Amino acid sequence: MKGKYYITTPIYYPSDRLHIGNTYTTVLADALARFKRLTGYDVFFLTGTDEHGQKIQRIAEKKGVTPKEYVDNIVASIKELWKTMNISYDKFIRTTDDYHIKAVQDIFKKLYEKGDIYKGYYEGWYCTPCESFFTETQLVDGKCPDCGREVEWTKEEAYFFKLSKYQDKLLKYIEEHPDFILPEKRKNEMINNFIKPGLEDLCVSRTSFTWGIPVSFDEKHVVYVWIDALSNYITALGYGSDDDSLYKKFWPADVHLVGKDIVRFHTIIWPIMLMALDIPLPKTVYGHGWLLVDGGKMSKSKGNVIDPVVLTEHFGVDAVRYYLLKEISFEHDGNYNSEMFIKRINSDLANDLGNLVSRTLTMIEKYFNGTIEKGIFEGEFDEDLKRTALEVPKNVENLMDSLRVSESLDEIWRLVRRANKYIDETMPWVLAKDDANKERLKGVLYNLTEAIRIISVLISSFMPDTSRKINEQFNFEGKVVTWDSVLDFGNLERVSVKRGELLFPRIDVEKKLEELEKLYGQKEEKKMLPIKSEITIEDFDKIDLRVVKVLEAERIKGADKLLKLKVDLGGEERQIVSGIAKYYEPEKLVGKKVILVANLKPVKLRGVESFGMILAASTEDKEKLVLATVDDDIETGSQVK
Ligand code: MSP
Repeated sequence: MKGKYYITTPIYYPSDRLHIGNTYTTVLADALARFKRLTGYDVFFLTGTDEHGQKIQRIAEKKGVTPKEYVDNIVASIKELWKTMNISYDKFIRTTDDYHIKAVQDIFKKLYEKGDIYKGYYEGWYCTPCESFFTETQLVDGKCPDCGREVEWTKEEAYFFKLSKYQDKLLKYIEEHPDFILPEKRKNEMINNFIKPGLEDLCVSRTSFTWGIPVSFDEKHVVYVWIDALSNYITALGYGSDDDSLYKKFWPADVHLVGKDIVRFHTIIWPIMLMALDIPLPKTVYGHGWLLVDGGKMSKSKGNVIDPVVLTEHFGVDAVRYYLLKEISFEHDGNYNSEMFIKRINSDLANDLGNLVSRTLTMIEKYFNGTIEKGIFEGEFDEDLKRTALEVPKNVENLMDSLRVSESLDEIWRLVRRANKYIDETMPWVLAKDDANKERLKGVLYNLTEAIRIISVLISSFMPDTSRKINEQFNFEGKVVTWDSVLDFGNLERVSVKRGELLFPRIDVEKKLEELEKLYGQKEEKKMLPIKSEITIEDFDKIDLRVVKVLEAERIKGADKLLKLKVDLGGEERQIVSGIAKYYEPEKLVGKKVILVANLKPVKLRGVESFGMILAASTEDKEKLVLATVDDDIETGSQVK
């Protein structure tokens, strides 16, 4: 063994179905874990689920099941997805596992006893029906962003973690360990946007819900989110339990893989927790880019959520793994688009790899009855193929060590393309015409077989099924599929091949696109937001809705979401503050007739008074918002009923 390698994915929130973007982190981890195993490391690959919190508690309540019953079901489907995607994890941790709960309680207590966790008050805008706190900027028109009801400024007893105490120590550590946060641009973002401006202490407990790990010495509190979730990376190894042999062997982690959205938690809260516990820090936190769909974020309300299972059913697991791993490079986002996806399969997998394999197999069967051994090695083309075959594995190893997975595939494809070019250069079908060339023809096909053997071993971490299929058709096994064996060209003695199914049949782009469109059309039916509880006509009558005309509109300094409007109510002018700055340019609003809730109690938003609220429709994810207007011209002040 060359050493140990501990790699983790984030633990996933249990949600109905993970999408292709979520799947990326785990596929990436799998490729890295497999590669490290291949190259002789003792690997521990961890994934799992992050199961606590108010949101889960609420969904379960709505469904009439216990939170545990609810998450059990989802966890089963996540495990099923990982099976489909061929994920070779060594352990799946659930934050509801007993050993995790106990270890988190101990960690919390330790931090408290050390004085790094203290009791204080959590303050914020509180929505009683939703039992949730919001910050000023999260409110919409001064109301709860979830249910639109009134919020109250509330104080709740809570425990806090002293991030501020460790700020300088963390900054020093990051600066002295250039590989701690990768890529570089995310490190700079953390330092400049979060650490240098100053860290605030973090609220780490809640009393407003119960679906969480109870604080052992103060049971009305549950541990809130990040302390529970982040600890998984050590509790999964048995930290704080009777058997901590895995912890002793594998900690510190070699790499935590996380999406760019959660780099902050992993590079600020997590290292500070570890410092406070006197535990060494992980070597690297790598924040990868996101997979976008047609250039935008994937979201249910846009109806553009891509289901990995559907894709695997249509194109096979390895096509999906290949696309994901190739598309998101070291420091950039990637893009999914069905046409691009299919075209990439056709070009890289069907044309380049698939053709190389099937042409070689066909020729070995046709010219040598399926058995090939060493023949004449000669000239520039042979040397060049061999040189490439010897360079690529070493380069791939270096690239994988620096987490450049997409670039590793580029490098492997350099060999695939070189081998295809070798066929065109040596023209075996011409050699076959003359018996005098038999030995040379054998040499050419042997060299191709060697190149394919090396390619097959190289792709095994990225596309395990395809590698297995190639090995089966070529009868590569044992010593010749090890890593050491690909560091040399000419290791193979003799093989008998048997052509099987095409690895990647060419796809008819138009036809498949149509099929997918129909499928997504049916699948992506939007789920309607549940209707709120019933009210009477008298309840409704309490709301005084009026048509008003916007007279003036301007931005509010320091509040990038808000606009200050002056509206005409037909006999009265009013000032309204509205959270629509993201959606409307102020000048475009002037002259518009909109609908005002005229008898709403005035509130102050960012110090500016608002006398009412104008109505708007928005998508669930708030990506789109349009104002409610009247269908035809009507006097201002008219009532809306
Ligand atoms: N539970 C937290 C992590 C806690 S780790 C101690 C969480 N879970 S998550 O389910 O929301 O996200 C899981 C992973 O999916 C994250 O790495 C996240 O960045 C990633 N992705 C979510 N959408 C994605 C894309 N569209 N593209 C790539 N990765 C994406 O966060």
